Amino acid sequence: MNNAINDPQTVLVLGGTSDIGQAIVAKLATTSLRQVILAVRQPDQVDVEQVAVGDADVAVVGFDATDTASHEALIADVAEEYGDLDVIVQAFGQLGASDLQDPIASAELATVNYAGAVSSGLAAAKQLRLQGHGTLVVLSSVAGVRTRGSNFVYGSTKAGQDAFATGLGHALHGTGAKVLTVRPGFVRSAMTDGLEEAPFSVDPDDVADAVVAGLRSGKSVVWVPGKLRYVFGLLRFAPDAVWRKLDK
Ligand SMILES: NC(=O)c1ccc[n+]([C@@H]2O[C@H](COP(=O)([O-])OP(=O)(O)OC[C@H]3O[C@@H](n4cnc5c(N)ncnc54)[C@H](OP(=O)(O)O)[C@@H]3O)[C@@H](O)[C@H]2O)c1
Repeated sequence: MNNAINDPQTVLVLGGTSDIGQAIVAKLATTSLRQVILAVRQPDQVDVEQVAVGDADVAVVGFDATDTASHEALIADVAEEYGDLDVIVQAFGQLGASDLQDPIASAELATVNYAGAVSSGLAAAKQLRLQGHGTLVVLSSVAGVRTRGSNFVYGSTKAGQDAFATGLGHALHGTGAKVLTVRPGFVRSAMTDGLEEAPFSVDPDDVADAVVAGLRSGKSVVWVPGKLRYVFGLLRFAPDAVWRKLDK
């Protein structure tokens, strides 16, 4: 349960090797954080000594976003072993490539980014409802606000994940369980390594700062950086020809 000043004590990160996920954990590593659980595809590849968590303990469990049938049991088992989960971060995801020739790889991307988000999100919501408290943090993206021709498959998966997360937040209203939907722009992380930076690029630490501030103030949506809310408020209604021109 969150302590008296609303800081979480137990955090589960789905996609625990994510640069943004680990930055969030590092920022949450206040004196109150006691237990971090990293849910990852290859548990034996994680060196817990390298994860910045202050005085908290770190556990690593196996998790594959595509194994949707396992998510409910995984989250229930983690809660049984480590107690109430104050924050569950949905940090897994793949960028993929919008290849018009590759329906199979695109469907696989949709399975990870969307189907995996739905099954793990509902499993997380079930646990948080049972507890009567806790927040699911969903790493969405501005890529889903208006999809670009150059990465529309990824954008469509983030649009679906974002719609799911905001709708889930409404469905959970009044239960004590909450959803914080996070919409970063371009983040300098392993996912974007080698790509040309977009305007308003940020670091994983900037996303983590926004998440921690959002958790403390009980927000339901945060944009990173915050000005992207206004930029995309305009861009989503820009004429198609202008939007295509910007996608260069
Ligand atoms: N970077 C950006 O510009 C940006 C912007 C907006 C939103 N986001 C979103 O933020 C989230 C985190 O991204 P990041 O920038 O931190 O990238 P990252 O460091 O590459 O992290 C992505 C994580 O997803 C995990 N993953 C991939 N496929 C998985 C699967 N099938 N099952 C379980 N885990 C899987 C990876 O695990 P492995 O170590 O096993 O590969 C890795 O831990 C993603 O959802 C991304 O879409 C990123």
